[in-house]
Amino acid sequence: MTSDGNGSDGHGYDAAPYLPRRGGLAAHRRAAADCRGCPLFQDASGTVFGAGNPSARIMLVGEQPGDQEDRQGEPFVGPAGGLLRKAMREAGIDEDQTYVTNAVKHFKFTTAPRGKRRIHKAPSLREMTACRPWLTAELRLVAPEVVVALGATAGKALLGSSFRVTKDRGTLIPLPEARVAGDGASGMADGGRGFAVATLHPAAILRAEDREEPYAGLVSDLRVAARALG
Ligand code: URA
Ligand code: SF4
Repeated sequence: MTSDGNGSDGHGYDAAPYLPRRGGLAAHRRAAADCRGCPLFQDASGTVFGAGNPSARIMLVGEQPGDQEDRQGEPFVGPAGGLLRKAMREAGIDEDQTYVTNAVKHFKFTTAPRGKRRIHKAPSLREMTACRPWLTAELRLVAPEVVVALGATAGKALLGSSFRVTKDRGTLIPLPEARVAGDGASGMADGGRGFAVATLHPAAILRAEDREEPYAGLVSDLRVAARALG
């Protein structure tokens, strides 16, 4: 039984029926624009698919688009993206060699009682699970060597629900096969599974009273990812 009007077939929300059977990133981006795999498409402006180098060696995964990303249709173009780019530069990661995406591809928000400001709301586990086929496809098609999980939502999407950012950040973690490719095949260019490195979400750093220490942590975790490329 579901309590949210999504049917009682026990299956629930799922982006999988909206994925193209074949085609590359461009075909997937086009198809994702029409995804109705969960209710989040209803209130957002549009799908924010991943962007960047289609053969990137590093993929960075955030939580979901924010207000600016929803308006512009591109990931990490707002304040969190600005901080992320600064940290990447300091860590020696060339932005042009990266692909950036989110665990959930529509902006979830509430509107302040008075005024029109849209306030970010965390996606539910069901929404994260529904949206995962898009992330899985991006991992298979881009086939990065290292995936950086920005915050807990991305960490759980990539590494499973037992992931904890405080405990697991800053070290190379082999990506579980099942999360890399739903069909059981390896998505990695070299036939390996690749690694994940988890770190703080840049938006969480922007909210912190003292940004200096968490920002330094972000940069040092990104250096772990950069070094993994050899
Ligand atoms: N935060 C995210 O997790 N992703 C974005 O694209 C922007 C902000
Ligand atoms: Fe589809 Fe993901 Fe958007 Fe839900 S959040 S409608 S699963 S693209």
